[in-house]
Amino acid sequence: MAMAIRAAERVVKPGIVGVGKLGLYIAEQFISYQKQPLVVGRTPGKLEKLKASGAQIAASHTALVEETNEILICTKPGKDFHQACDTLNTALAMSPHKENKLFLSCAAATTVEDVTRYLPHASQTFSVMPVIGLNTPLFLSAHSAVTSENRERALNVCKLITPHVYELTSSSTIHAATTMACLPGWLAHTIHTLAKQYRHFGRENNRNPE
Ligand SMILES: NC(=O)c1ccc[n+]([C@@H]2O[C@H](COP(=O)([O-])OP(=O)(O)OC[C@H]3O[C@@H](n4cnc5c(N)ncnc54)[C@H](OP(=O)(O)O)[C@@H]3O)[C@@H](O)[C@H]2O)c1
Repeated sequence: MAMAIRAAERVVKPGIVGVGKLGLYIAEQFISYQKQPLVVGRTPGKLEKLKASGAQIAASHTALVEETNEILICTKPGKDFHQACDTLNTALAMSPHKENKLFLSCAAATTVEDVTRYLPHASQTFSVMPVIGLNTPLFLSAHSAVTSENRERALNVCKLITPHVYELTSSSTIHAATTMACLPGWLAHTIHTLAKQYRHFGRENNRNPE
């Protein structure tokens, strides 16, 4: 008799909603592990380039929900995130396999409780925050309703994005951890911007000496 497949051993079928800077990065990581993602965007034509690198373009958000098991939401937070969740939730309501679908939101300042509130048909929800750059740490927090097997599945998916995955028990600590991880990059960016402005003003002063 065939043994039941544990959820954690199921084949990863990743989907990405929103393929901007972060979605593209994640898609490339999956492709490098031969886990071709199915992606869906908002603006027709913007995803054509991705096809050449091995990603598949879903016909709609509904098709993406039906054909994938681990769905990463990579839209901006706020209005874009709410719209994407509305569409995904409608698709999920009709899906006979909804209990098998993991939703991993990458939206900043959005807790895992927010994700569950905007996706009421999803019970297996996560908040994920990759900090792209040196070492690319990734912070993950799971909703309390998530089963241990699905938590393991989510961890395995995140490990395809980066080996440096840290699970946090509360979704508020995810923001603190992200802020700390982003701080060096933010400081470097601020110093770079200030230095550019300083050089610009220096040139202007040399051009117009009093
Ligand atoms: N960039 C990073 O390093 C980073 C790191 C960690 C977390 N994040 C988080 O990741 C999210 C995305 O950031 P980003 O920098 O990648 O932003 P982005 O470049 O603006 O990408 C967002 C993408 O989402 C698409 N989109 C919007 N609504 C959609 C919908 N309903 N269905 C499908 N696609 C939709 C947008 O499509 P259009 O092309 O039509 O605008 C755009 O391509 C943000 O919440 C951010 O906080 C980003």
